[in-house]
Amino acid sequence: MRYFSTSLLLAACGLFLFNAQESRAQSATVLDGIYNTQQATRGKRAYARYCEECHLSDLEGGALEPPLVSVLFLDAWREDYLWSLYDFIATRMPKSDDYRPGSLKPQEYLDILTYILQRNDFPAGRDALSEDALHQVLLVSHDGPMPLPPNATVRAVGCLQPDGGGYRLEQAASPSRVRTSDETDEVELGRSATQELGDVTLALNNLDVLTTSKPLADLTGRKVQAKGVLNSLGEPNARLFVLSLEDLGSCNP
Ligand code: HEC
Repeated sequence: MRYFSTSLLLAACGLFLFNAQESRAQSATVLDGIYNTQQATRGKRAYARYCEECHLSDLEGGALEPPLVSVLFLDAWREDYLWSLYDFIATRMPKSDDYRPGSLKPQEYLDILTYILQRNDFPAGRDALSEDALHQVLLVSHDGPMPLPPNATVRAVGCLQPDGGGYRLEQAASPSRVRTSDETDEVELGRSATQELGDVTLALNNLDVLTTSKPLADLTGRKVQAKGVLNSLGEPNARLFVLSLEDLGSCNP
């Protein structure tokens, strides 16, 4: 759902909820045994029925279908909550003539997701993965959390400040990975509004041509959510190609 200014109230209601989620958010990664083998076995059966014809039994994919194993696959989805991968699968897959996207039960999608994790050598644990946990479990590489890959799409929260002829984001929190960069919604804005500032500085590109909901002059000095493509995280050259920019309120409340 797109964001409209009338949704501000909803965003405020979401704050409490997301505060609670955020505080637990760092606690789990896919290295922690966040599904169990029974679930992955169920997932294997569902995968064989709904996914295998395209992504194949070794999950390596084909000419048109991307692999669901390997570094390539993990690079596309790591440093993000499992929710993103789940949401992609549950809304866009399978895409065959026999089965429409989104036509499986949520539990089946969840089971298939755990099978994919198992085939990527992430360990099983005691408890099954629940839909609620998807927002709290980070997908990381086998070596644990790592810097984002180049050209990752991210959301950054910080203070908008003039920088020569352009702008930069100061006191920003570490950017987090997102799937869409040119739009937002009230849930995401609620999450950004409660996000604590940090010490990252990001140069901002593309603001001269971007259409923002408020004039840039009115946003200067404000806490903003900037989404876009990260060119590099290596200080001092960190640079964000901005595709959406939203006001979050005062920077020093
Ligand atoms: C008829 C062929 C077909 C079927 C069946 C199918 N897929 Fe796909 N899948 C694709 C194609 C083609 C893509 C390429 C990108 C796109 O269309 O979004 C894709 C992309 C994906 C991706 C994104 C991978 C990446 O890193 O970009 C995932 C994950 C995925 N499929 C999972 C599944 C799962 C799970 C199932 C079974 C529920 C499934 N697919 C069934 C054809 C298929």
